[in-house]
Amino acid sequence: MAMSRPEALQQVATLPWYHSIDLGDSVVTNGQYDHRPYLSHYGLPVDLHGKTVLDIGAASGFFSFELERRGAQVTATELTQWQDHDFAPTYQPDQTPEEGYRYLHQPFDVAKQILGSQAQMKWINIYDISPETVGVFDVVFCGSVLIHLTDPLKALCNIARVTREKAIVATVIQQHESERSIATMVGHESGYCWWIPTRACFELMAVAAGFVGIEWMSDFQLNYRDQPTGPYHGVLHAYPTTDGWTERTRHRDQVCAAYHDATNEQSIPEMLANVRRQEQEKANVTVGRALQAALINVRQQEQEIVQLKDLVAAYERGRFIRLMRFLNRVRHPRS
Ligand SMILES: C[S@@+](CC[C@H](N)C(=O)[O-])C[C@H]1O[C@@H](n2cnc3c(N)ncnc32)[C@H](O)[C@@H]1O
Repeated sequence: MAMSRPEALQQVATLPWYHSIDLGDSVVTNGQYDHRPYLSHYGLPVDLHGKTVLDIGAASGFFSFELERRGAQVTATELTQWQDHDFAPTYQPDQTPEEGYRYLHQPFDVAKQILGSQAQMKWINIYDISPETVGVFDVVFCGSVLIHLTDPLKALCNIARVTREKAIVATVIQQHESERSIATMVGHESGYCWWIPTRACFELMAVAAGFVGIEWMSDFQLNYRDQPTGPYHGVLHAYPTTDGWTERTRHRDQVCAAYHDATNEQSIPEMLANVRRQEQEKANVTVGRALQAALINVRQQEQEIVQLKDLVAAYERGRFIRLMRFLNRVRHPRS
């Protein structure tokens, strides 16, 4: 529902803001994050006049409004309701459905009103994004959404399908082991964050999603507002065609080749041979143990036989002594 600027300004302090947004007149929203000092890491095009831009998972809209400020015609998307998140079945959301609804809907609306923005909001899950549902855009921006998805690769495939020139994708990445294509699963601990890829893994995911050119933009720690902690992020620009590449853009084949050695430390036949060798070693150990047990058994039985022989010998000795005593008594009967 449309509201006047004074009405909207009155609401600002009461709303849950994800972003710190400068609304003018010295009013800055009380965001969980302040992206303004980090903006250069994203490599947003300076001039977006005449371009259409899709901002997926826009939250309170900092990037939508920034992209619009650079001249773009912006469409933002968000989840309709909080429960639409990929939450683990055991996860207790930190917001009630009503609070979540407010978080997703109101801050964007209020900021849009105050800034006089023309950005259009579409309520749609990233898994449902396609040329048929939202259309195709010159630039697609997707910031810090993949970390919240159980299937980030599917989401990247959808992003590729609706990108005409370039996708700008940021997500939480591992700070170390950047050359190895691995991802750490954290869903069992958090219930709302899922995969943390290395840089190599993130780039290869973009390749797998169908992008032909990848440009690594930056990696940096995105701190919470006024706190020296926050998730480590990577930003890449991905191109669905060879148009618009910069000298830093690498072809998908170069990206694959760059990470081949670090990732494929063993070829698949080597891996299989290793597995077979390990299984054989396990079988050898089992057979060895069984043989040892059998040998111990045989030794025990041998000992028992020796003991039995001793017993028989002793018995025989006793019988002989008793016989001699008997004969003695027969020969020398007591009168
Ligand atoms: C961490 S915030 C990032 C906000 C903004 N894109 C940025 O970079 O600052 C993640 C946003 O993604 C949205 N989101 C989470 N799962 C989503 C999904 N399956 N489809 C679309 N948006 C989703 C959340 O509602 C949330 O607003």
